[in-house]
Amino acid sequence: MTQIAHSIGSLDALRATGSQLVELEDKMIAVFCLGERVLAIEERCSHRAGPLSEGKVVDGRVVCPWHGSEFEISTGDVKNGPAKRCLKTHTVEIRQGEVFIKVNPEAPT
Ligand code: FES
Repeated sequence: MTQIAHSIGSLDALRATGSQLVELEDKMIAVFCLGERVLAIEERCSHRAGPLSEGKVVDGRVVCPWHGSEFEISTGDVKNGPAKRCLKTHTVEIRQGEVFIKVNPEAPT
């Protein structure tokens, strides 16, 4: 099945905020700008669904604002609990200053 690349806006706008919450194909996705890299993971923390796009980012990890679970943004791996399940990542492409996301069909809605 061909994945659709959804535009979520300009790279400059994402850089200005550092993170962005988007909803694509019924999935909530947190998008982060880390220097030159743009990464996308599930928005909802796997512990109790805390909003990761509102979390603090430290050394490539996002810290859930509710109970402090930490996830590696590039892989979705849990680095600190209480969360136990790793998060799904989504594919990001940058084309001529515009950010596109290809939704991982295995990510929960
Ligand atoms: S909801 Fe994220 S750590 Fe509890």
